[in-house]
Amino acid sequence: MGNLEGKIILITGAAKGMGAVEAGMAVERGATVILSDVIDGQLEATANALNSPFAHLDVTSKSDWGNTITQMMNDYGRIDGLVNNAGIFIQKTLFDDSADAFEAMAKVNQLGTYLGIECVAPIMREQKSGSIVNISSVAGLRGQRNIGYVASKFAVTGMTKAVALQLAKFNVRCNSVHPGAISTDMALGLGPSDVELLTSRTPMGRIGEPEEVSETVMFLLSDAASYLTGAEIAVDGGFIL
Ligand SMILES: NC(=O)c1ccc[n+]([C@@H]2O[C@H](COP(=O)([O-])OP(=O)(O)OC[C@H]3O[C@@H](n4cnc5c(N)ncnc54)[C@H](O)[C@@H]3O)[C@@H](O)[C@H]2O)c1
Repeated sequence: MGNLEGKIILITGAAKGMGAVEAGMAVERGATVILSDVIDGQLEATANALNSPFAHLDVTSKSDWGNTITQMMNDYGRIDGLVNNAGIFIQKTLFDDSADAFEAMAKVNQLGTYLGIECVAPIMREQKSGSIVNISSVAGLRGQRNIGYVASKFAVTGMTKAVALQLAKFNVRCNSVHPGAISTDMALGLGPSDVELLTSRTPMGRIGEPEEVSETVMFLLSDAASYLTGAEIAVDGGFIL
């Protein structure tokens, strides 16, 4: 029996990368996982491989959130876990005329996370149980050059604490996970020299695998983390030390 047996869990950005690995691991551990994303073909293929339901959910769209959550409540009658994993990274710094990138990252990474929380919070409060896991970044714990990404990920860190505070008395937990450089399209897309730089700045001397982040996400979704809320957990090979 897995530690997520019987749980109903929604994961955003689950077509590929860390979200897809989290989905696979949660299914293995007994959960029913609804995979969601905006890249429909890949989403369907990933969900089908797991024999799992899926939903087109653009995290910036309030109506997409409404449709997905309504469907989940019709199908299962409850929601035990939400992983706000969808995110984008646009490589721009302060002197790159970066306002558009700043806004785009604020929309997906910050607003997208907020909209998900806004949708599930009343349901979890009513159930008197639930776990929300927000995927921030090491860029949500300390400064980096990409001002828009850092701003959006610090926002996720802060929101997590506000939500944890407000929902704790209803037995609903909210925590943030802060990956370092992880081997997905997002980090690998930076190119070999940047990946090498990140590796050299990581005390463990390597970038991480999506499975290593997913293990922490599984723990936070599970009842084993029953007294853990408002925490920020870095899974980064020591990057922020
Ligand atoms: N890879 C890393 O090194 C790293 C480090 C720290 C944090 N993160 C964070 O981890 C999370 C997962 O990223 P990843 O590394 O798997 O990258 P990825 O690019 O492989 O996956 C991101 C997923 O989010 C989806 N997405 C993008 N915009 C969306 C939207 N508006 N609505 C719904 N889905 C959307 C994409 O389609 C994609 O499937 C992100 O929040 C990212 O910021 C990644």
